[in-house]
Amino acid sequence: MGSRCSFFPGLAFLMFGFLGFMILPAADAAIKKYQFDVQVRNVSRLCHAKPIVTVNGMFPGPTIYAREGDRVIINVTNHAQYNMSIHWHGIKQFRNGWADGPAYITQCPIQTGSAYTYDFNVTGQRGTLWWHAHILWLRATVYGALVIMPKPGTPFPFPQPYSEVNLLLGEWWNNDIEALVKQGNSRGLPPNMSDAHTINGKPGPLFPCSEKHTFAMEVESGKTYLLRIINAALNDELFFAIAGHDMTVVEIDAVYTKPFTTQALLIAPGQTTNVLVQANQAPNRYFMAARPFMDAPLPVDKQMATGILQYKGVPNTVLPSLPQLPASNDTAFALSYNKKLRSLNTPQFPVNVPLKVDRNLFYTIGLGRNPCLTCVNGTRLTGSLNNISFVMPNIGLLQAHYSKIKGVFRTDFPDRPSTPFNYTSAPLTANLGTSQGTRLSKLAFNSTVELVLQDTNLLTVESHPFHLHGYNFFVVGSGIGNFDPAKDPANYNLIDPPERNTVGVPTGGWTAIRFRADNPGVWFMHCHLELHTGWGLKMAFVVEDGEGPDQSVLPPPKDLPPC
Ligand code: C2O
Repeated sequence: MGSRCSFFPGLAFLMFGFLGFMILPAADAAIKKYQFDVQVRNVSRLCHAKPIVTVNGMFPGPTIYAREGDRVIINVTNHAQYNMSIHWHGIKQFRNGWADGPAYITQCPIQTGSAYTYDFNVTGQRGTLWWHAHILWLRATVYGALVIMPKPGTPFPFPQPYSEVNLLLGEWWNNDIEALVKQGNSRGLPPNMSDAHTINGKPGPLFPCSEKHTFAMEVESGKTYLLRIINAALNDELFFAIAGHDMTVVEIDAVYTKPFTTQALLIAPGQTTNVLVQANQAPNRYFMAARPFMDAPLPVDKQMATGILQYKGVPNTVLPSLPQLPASNDTAFALSYNKKLRSLNTPQFPVNVPLKVDRNLFYTIGLGRNPCLTCVNGTRLTGSLNNISFVMPNIGLLQAHYSKIKGVFRTDFPDRPSTPFNYTSAPLTANLGTSQGTRLSKLAFNSTVELVLQDTNLLTVESHPFHLHGYNFFVVGSGIGNFDPAKDPANYNLIDPPERNTVGVPTGGWTAIRFRADNPGVWFMHCHLELHTGWGLKMAFVVEDGEGPDQSVLPPPKDLPPC
């Protein structure tokens, strides 16, 4: 495939099997090198062939394997017609935003025919993350898993699985996505929804022409498997289940959790979930399935993407049974599932949630319509935080911050909405006069931050998965309706809150997160629904340098792409 990996997936599988039995000598951190050739390739699904942008011709793209403590060097060469960049979703990139990847935030895109080398350390993290293109909607096809194994000699804090499998959930459009998005933008409307969801790039046999596009994994009776599940879909939170098999959740967003067993799980775009599955049922073939969760009054695709879990020796002719997935609008399941997520919180993997808050932030999530003369209804759909729709700059914000270039952004993003209102009552159609701007919020180095993200009924309530670059945060609280600063903090979980990089703000509700601003740089925060990101539901934090020698943004690499 033209990928030069120093650590082949096959090898990883082999080593994985042995790790449980061997005490390996502590090795020094290694360097893992990869070559990513971004190239267009023809791919067919659902009886439609089209050219798609890929990495090394693979869809999904290659898996990156590293160990905690490793340095990872990925040379990305862009042979596609789009200028693009790649984000290593969930990697903290301490002092090193240059390797983070969001276009126009931490770098300018890699132009067609050019290359850029992402060079970063994987420090203090282990588990499943992923990577994806971070410009336009290219991540629809440009994505892959990023697996961080624990340090040598450090076992998982759960029963060692016999083997492991990556499950990347995605979306497929029959037509050219960039063309659809362009058309949607010019009309001021969303593009068509995807034609199918996929498991490892495959929709499964319930779709036309898809018999051969079905992901299958073989299991042996009595063995335990680790599934690394990644929601790489652009716009849908997904339920996932396997017929006849419970799953034990052990990790989310590369942070270990207190294990709990569930029949189905919920995963938002950007999130990852590791589960253990025991092959303890009658040898047979079982469908695994994914389908969107949507509890707002918006259209949703109710078809199931399926893959097959197949016991060794069972012939392919046996018809698999389907799992029971929660109903598409099952709010109760979503809320109770998310409540079960708790950090492991052991001496080895402690919860460092800030108990004292230096800075309280309150951001409203709004959708709206702005006037647009050339659009279909005379309006264009927008997204905003605190009523500000984010405008992308023409050069990288990190570069502007580092080189003190004036006039690129302002640092007056408001800590709270200028006019408080009843955020979640009957649909609000009032025109709040959404403004546009490249406005950032400045955070003092090492300050502790609490951010309450409040959904609103502007146009419609909806669940929004928020992702913060450069950090993990602790999800200390969440609720339905309006956040009450007098009452709600009393119910926060400050003992073992889930730690993650992407959190779903519930439909018509709020979520409170905390983090310590100890990573200097410019860090993007946005709704991970691509539709909403594109509409401006995003902002960025500028975290100032600290005083210490290791507390400032590193100098930019020499090959940082020019604008
Ligand atoms: Cu996974 Cu800014 O994105």
